[in-house]
Amino acid sequence: MHDKIEEIKKEIESFSADTAKAIEDFRIHVLGKKGKITQLFSDFRSVPNEQKKVIGLHINNLKNAALDKIQQLKEQIEGSSEQKSDFDLTLPPYPYNFGSRHPLSLVKQELYDIFGSLGFKIVEGPEIEDDWHVFSSLNFPDEHPARDMQDTFFIESNPDVILRTHTSSVQVRTMEQQKPPIRVICPGRVFRNEAISARAHCIFHQVEGLYIDKNVSFADLKQTLLYFAKELFGNDVKIRLRPSYFPFTEPSAEMDVSCNLCSGKGCGVCKYTGWLEILGCGMVDPNVLEFNNIDSSTYTGFAFGMGIERIAMLKYQVKDLRLYFENDTRFLDQFKSVL
Ligand code: DAH
Repeated sequence: MHDKIEEIKKEIESFSADTAKAIEDFRIHVLGKKGKITQLFSDFRSVPNEQKKVIGLHINNLKNAALDKIQQLKEQIEGSSEQKSDFDLTLPPYPYNFGSRHPLSLVKQELYDIFGSLGFKIVEGPEIEDDWHVFSSLNFPDEHPARDMQDTFFIESNPDVILRTHTSSVQVRTMEQQKPPIRVICPGRVFRNEAISARAHCIFHQVEGLYIDKNVSFADLKQTLLYFAKELFGNDVKIRLRPSYFPFTEPSAEMDVSCNLCSGKGCGVCKYTGWLEILGCGMVDPNVLEFNNIDSSTYTGFAFGMGIERIAMLKYQVKDLRLYFENDTRFLDQFKSVL
């Protein structure tokens, strides 16, 4: 019995393993049902009584030594597999990788703040529209090219279900629901059948403005837009209005701001003109007021519409508007500091 105990003791001491399987095999070899130590316990019954105390102690020690060894080897392989993995539990959880606000959202928020401070309320309208709200009620003649299949996305075969090509449709929806005075801005997505390039996309965003009251004049429009331009681009900005044409405004104009890169001296961005076009505007055509049951002999109004992508391009010097839609974090992360 003594020799057997010594032999197993040596075996335990010299045993080593680096896989869980080898350790488990060893456990079965010594402590399993037919294991060597288990066998000793059954042999123990035939040990003479006077030796039982000493031998019993030895067998118990042997069992504990085996259990200790197994435990120690298990811990060793667990420790080494932890080191092999990439997951370092000791690393602190900071810094959190916060996202950033999208440049279009930043510009939109700024427009809300600027026009909000002038008392303009935000209203929204549907993206899927009908001909009346997008064209007819805005004084577009039947043969106007904007209705053409080239520009407008039509849904199915029904020419009266279209994706809105501009947010001016929300002017109409507002006039249907509110009596003057009306003072709203209408942000939203618009859709045009355009080839996608650095300067054009088939989906983009606009903010429309509409102000209708008694005695609203072109001077009010100009002053509102000057205030807006100064708030957005800084106090030194200059604006100019060029005569233009839109079916729903008369007179109509396009507004340029002095180039914020070269302060009007001329550079590649402003194509050496010193000016950048940012919006269309005008006095609401009396026909549009009448179409919407607003008495054009009592009320006048102005409207304007601008592309958010374009404003963000000018403000943040973005050269390619496809970047807005690609969700590339290398682009978006640059707006982390703008809040
Ligand atoms: N709807 C025009 C467009 O998409 C922009 C526009 C021009 C809106 C003049 C207006 C306006 O409200 O008065 O090109």
